Formats: sequence, structure tokens, C-alpha cells
Amino acid sequence: MSREEEFFAALQPLPPLLAAVRAQGQATKVPILQDEAGRFLALLTALAQPRRILEIGSGIGYSTLWMLQGQPQAQITCLDTNLSRLQQAARFLDQAGALSQVTLLHQAGQDYLNSQPQPFDLIFLDCAKKDYAELAAECYKALVLGGLLVADNLLLGGLMLVEDPQTLTRNRSSWQGIQGFLDQALHHPGLESRLFALGDGLLVGRKLK
Ligand SMILES: C[S@@+](CC[C@H](N)C(=O)[O-])C[C@H]1O[C@@H](n2cnc3c(N)ncnc32)[C@H](O)[C@@H]1O
Repeated sequence: MSREEEFFAALQPLPPLLAAVRAQGQATKVPILQDEAGRFLALLTALAQPRRILEIGSGIGYSTLWMLQGQPQAQITCLDTNLSRLQQAARFLDQAGALSQVTLLHQAGQDYLNSQPQPFDLIFLDCAKKDYAELAAECYKALVLGGLLVADNLLLGGLMLVEDPQTLTRNRSSWQGIQGFLDQALHHPGLESRLFALGDGLLVGRKLK
């Protein structure tokens, strides 16, 4: 955390359950949303009041809880390909008294979206970055008109700034997935997208047509 982030974090302590989930994520090395992005997500859901949310890559439920902070009435479908993380998410969501509002599915985003679900008011994309490009068009299709697409990690911890992705060894497919996603989301005629250097980089897109 930068000194500036620490300053703000001290002014806005996390609610106890969110602090516990974050501690668990850090202890078990499960990647979770940065707090700044969490606060932004809570504000966005409070303003937009989405009734149906799809979360692709819910991990242990940290981002799910942030969205429920903003919109406590939402129904959230949480997808994750890691079963033990989903089970942990269920325990935390139960502690929050929100288990009846979430549907936890052990399924990849691609497979779920291929089943042509009812459209969503907001989709939060936070799965493997290599999968982002192939999910972009499917997420667009699965939104209601006016619906929001929110995607995290578009800076890939700063790696998106490299001039030549061929120099990357471990993260090249993630770089390509994010670049492919950005190319689509920023130039889609039916999507108005904005990028924010918040947390690890967020995109918010609104479906216009
Ligand atoms: C960055 S973590 C999610 C963190 C979570 N959103 C949070 O902030 O608390 C990414 C998760 O996506 C899951 N995942 C990876 N690829 C996936 C895919 N194609 N569909 C659904 N889940 C996926 C991983 O198992 C992992 O738990």
C-alpha cells in the first residue's frame, strides 16, 4: 500500500467481516480485489442499484461482499472454477447473512455464458486474465440495455506497460487476454467504456445498444 492509500485506509477502517476475508485471502495467498477498487465497486453498486449481478471469478467472496455493501438487495450469481474457494465464499456469505441472495456455481464463465442465462444488470469480471478476451463479447451479450460491465486487473500489476509482450515469460497469455479484452471493450459500438487507474486498473463499460 502506498502512503496515500494507508492514510485513507486509516480514515476508513474496513467493516470486521471484510477485514476477516481480506486477512484470510492474504494468509492463503488467494488473490483479492484491492481495497480502493472495493470501495469503488460499493459506490458503483450503490449508485446503479443493479438487481441481478454476475460475478465471474468470485474467489472467497471478498468482491461479492463489497458489492453487497453497495446494493444489499442484489441477487448475485458467483462463478468460480476453484471449488474450495467457492466453499470458503459460502461460509463468509453465510456470516454476512447473505447466503440466500447468492447462487454459487462451480463453473467457468465461458460455459455459464454459453448457456444463455437471463440478462444481468451488472457483470463483474475478475477471473483468469488469459480468459478476458474470449469473455468480452459474451459479457456484452449477457447485459441488459444500460447494464454495466466492470473488469479488474487491467494493469496486470504494471505488466501491461511493457513495450514488447514477447519479453514476458510467465504472464504473456494474461497480457494477451487483457489486451484483447481492451481492444474489444474500448472500441465496441454498443459499449461506452472508461478506464480507471484504481487498484490494479478497472474498466467500467455501459451497454448503449
Ligand atoms: C482474482 S481471483 C477473484 C478474486 C475475487 N473477485 C475477489 O476480489 O475477492 C480469480 C478467481 O477466478 C477463478 N477463475 C479463473 N478462471 C476462471 C474462469 N474462466 N471462470 C470462472 N472463474 C475463474 C479462479 O479460481 C480465482 O478464484
